[in-house]
Formats: sequence, C-alpha cells, structure tokens
Amino acid sequence: MKKSTQSIDVLCRLHTNLTDEDIEKIKEISQNLPLIADLNRANVFIDCPTNEGKHAIVVAEASPRTAKSVYKNPVVGKFAYEAFEPAVLFTLRTGKEMFLNRAITQEGKTVEQSVVPIKGNKNNIIGALIMEKDISEKLKHQDKLKALSEATGTLSEILIGLTENRPIIPEVIEESLFFIDQKSRLMYFNPSAINLVYEVCHAECKVGVPIDNYFPCLKDIIKSSEELLMKEVKILNKVFQVKKITLGHHPKANGTFIIFRDLTELREKERELVVKSVVIREIHHRVKNNLQTVASLLRLQMRRGVPEDSKIYFIESLNRILSIASVYEIILSNSNVDDVDIYQLIEKIGNMIVYAEEFENRNITIEYSGPKIKIKSNKAVSIALIINELIQNCVKHAFKGISKGYIKVNYEKIENELYVEVIDNGVGYSPSAKPSLGLDIVKMMVEHDLSGYFSIERAENGTIASVKFPLDRE
Ligand SMILES: Nc1ncnc2c1ncn2[C@@H]1O[C@H](COP(=O)(O)OP(=O)(O)O)[C@@H](O)[C@H]1O
Ligand SMILES: [Mg+2]
Repeated sequence: MKKSTQSIDVLCRLHTNLTDEDIEKIKEISQNLPLIADLNRANVFIDCPTNEGKHAIVVAEASPRTAKSVYKNPVVGKFAYEAFEPAVLFTLRTGKEMFLNRAITQEGKTVEQSVVPIKGNKNNIIGALIMEKDISEKLKHQDKLKALSEATGTLSEILIGLTENRPIIPEVIEESLFFIDQKSRLMYFNPSAINLVYEVCHAECKVGVPIDNYFPCLKDIIKSSEELLMKEVKILNKVFQVKKITLGHHPKANGTFIIFRDLTELREKERELVVKSVVIREIHHRVKNNLQTVASLLRLQMRRGVPEDSKIYFIESLNRILSIASVYEIILSNSNVDDVDIYQLIEKIGNMIVYAEEFENRNITIEYSGPKIKIKSNKAVSIALIINELIQNCVKHAFKGISKGYIKVNYEKIENELYVEVIDNGVGYSPSAKPSLGLDIVKMMVEHDLSGYFSIERAENGTIASVKFPLDRE
C-alpha cells in the first residue's frame, strides 16, 4: 500500500465514522489528486467529517507542480474549522457544492476555495474535495484600490467644495482646519483657520504656501511618519491642541489634515478653578477660626463667673457653635472642599459633648456605628446641630439617678434616605410643659433644611430619637 493511502486508513479510522467501503472510495479518489492539482494549478484536498461532528479533518492532499503551492507544510491530519473554512463544513453538512468562497488556511493565508461533496455508495456524504488558490496578492491589490478611491473621494469633495458649494461643516466648526498636500502646501483652510493665521502671523492665508511658513513649530509634527498625531503646542501666549490626520498610507499619502483646537480658555478656566478652590478653603478656614474665637469668648465669660443656673445655657450655646465649627474642621482635613464624612462628624461632636470637662466625673459611654457616607457641607451643618442637640439632651436629661449611662448613635442609608438614631438607656423621654429650644431646633432643621422627619419617644429602657431625610442624588 502507498504511504498516502495508508495515512487515509489511519486517519479515517481514528477520527471518523466512515465504513470500510467509504474509506476505500476516498482512497480511490485520492489517487487522482496530483493530476487535479496540476491541471488547476491549485492545491487540492480531501476532508472528511469527524466523529465528534463539529470540524472536518484533512485526509489527503496534493500540491500543484505547475504553480506555487499555497502551503509550506503538509496539512494532512490537521483539522478544518467552520470559522475559517465555512464552505467545507457547509458542503459536508448539506451535500451542496460551493465555488470561490473565501477561507483562511491552517497557515493563516486567505484563499479562494471551491468545494464539492464526495458521496458514498448509499448516497451519503463521506467527504469533500477541495481546491484552493492563494488570493492574498489579489486582496492586497483590492485593498490598495479601495484606499485609493476613498482618498480620491475625500479629496475631490474638498476640491469641489472649494470651488462651488463650499462644504458647510468645516466652514462652521470652531476648530481651525487646514488640508495640505505631501509637500505641506496648503490646499484648503476653513474660516477659523484664516483667522488663526491672521491672529498668529498677521498674514493672509494663501493656497500653495507651506503650512510651516505660518507655523514653524509644526515642522516636527508634519515630518513625523505617524499618520495620526495629537500634540499640544504653545504659540505666542495661546495653547493649542494640534491634530494631524494623514489620508492614505505612508509613503503614498494623499494629503494631510491639520486641525487646531484652541485650549487657551479651557486651561485658563482650569487654573481659575484651582484658584477658586484655594480661596474657598481659605474662607472655610476663617469661618472655622471665627467660630472657635466666639466659643473661646463664651468660655472665657464662663470662667469669669456666671450664675450657676445660667451655666448650662452657656455650655449649650458653646456646643452649638463648636458643632458647626467641626463641620469646617472636617472639610479642611479633606482634599475635597465640599464633602463631609458623616461618621467623622458625628464622632467628633459626640466625643466633644460626652468627654467635656464638665462631665468628667460622670460615667457615660458613647458608641457610633454607620457606613462611610459623604454629604454636602450645607447639609452637614444641619446634621451637626441636630446630633449636637440630641446628644446634649442625653447627657443633660437622661441619666439622672442612673449609674452607667450609655449612648448609641446609629445611622444607615436605605435606598436614598439617611436614617439616624440616637439611643440612650436613661430615664426615658416625656414631653415637658415648658417651651423647649433644643428639640425645636432639631425639628426645624430636620423639616426645613433636610425635608425629613423627626421623632423622639420613650423606649422600654430609655429614649430613642430618630431622624430620617432624603440624600441628594449624585
Ligand atoms: N434623651 C432624653 N431623655 C429624657 N428626657 C429627654 C431627653 N431628650 C429630651 N428630653 C426631655 O425633653 C425636654 C425638651 O428637650 P429640649 O428641647 O432639648 O430642651 P432642654 O434640653 O433645654 O430642656 C427636656 O427638657 C427633657 O425633659
Ligand atoms: Mg436640650
């Protein structure tokens, strides 16, 4: 037996479901492959369907002696996949022939493929006879033609636009648009480009003049072999983004677009923003310092002696001022000038009240729990005042006759609402008859400033005050 028919035997038995009879038929046909290859000046193959069903396997092949072979290496024993050789799989599945279809070879070349089915004795499909011709060169040629015609199209549009109906879009865009030929000579420019040349060189923009006469700094950009380029250049005291777009491929370029975008204003605005944020920080700083000065003045007054029963009012006012100041302190410790972390804020205010020197010898602990949430500074001031009142009330009213005071501040975000709870294990809230400033402040802040709800009630063991309000959507 010849070597080639031997390998058909092995491959078919290993990878296909073909019967002995089918295999004999394939072998028979394979004898003629070299002749067919020579006659057609093409590579020819026999592929058989594999038992796994999805691909085919090459069982025989012949290269032409009358033309260059498509393949460098033998492909017998390799698989043919549907993605690369759709025609083969189509023929094997349907029994129909396919002519001059495009396929990708096992070596990655593009070929033109013709496929006819090989039928067994029971008229079933047992394989496909395939002929392949290399069309890579033809394709390259086609691509070149296509690129050329596209470039010509663009060029003629521009040229036609120049004479008659001027192209409307380049005429109205803000960017300055130049079109230059291979020797950098101007072929087209839009009105914005004319203005630019006038502004920068006090000269008139003229067709045929090399663009680097007007903009010497563009020399490198134009010379560069890259077809797409973007660079920032400074001309006089202006900043421009310059884009270069070459049509067609180097070295056979058909011309180049040079587009200038004025970034001066944008850069100026960026700089202003930075300055502004510095100014805002400085203002925050002063507000914070002023509030702290007011607080120290009150404290000084208290030290000089105030009637014992007014002392509590001084402390309360002091804490209100300091809780607003703590918002600014947190803002200043951040990089962002407008965001305040709620946890930080609540903790700062709680600790300030509970661990104040006035309450040094009382046994009160406070705990906080909640996720990391940032809120805008204006809301943060309201929250600071609310938390301040509620915690002050715990310290002031809840723990009369209670040896171990415990305060818990919880908050969480549910959907787009913030829930805050201040809980104590004290005597329990009961509405008092006398007018009360603290809870009025809370109610007002919650309802007016935060558009939310406030409630305070006696719990089984102490008091629960809760606040709920919508957060800004980002
Ligand atoms: N956590 C609390 N535990 C017990 N009673 C409370 C609590 N919070 C508030 N109260 C009661 O509610 C009243 C009103 O509080 P508030 O408006 O802050 O006024 P003030 O603190 O000046 O008395 C308090 O006088 C107190 O009787
Ligand atoms: Mg109070």
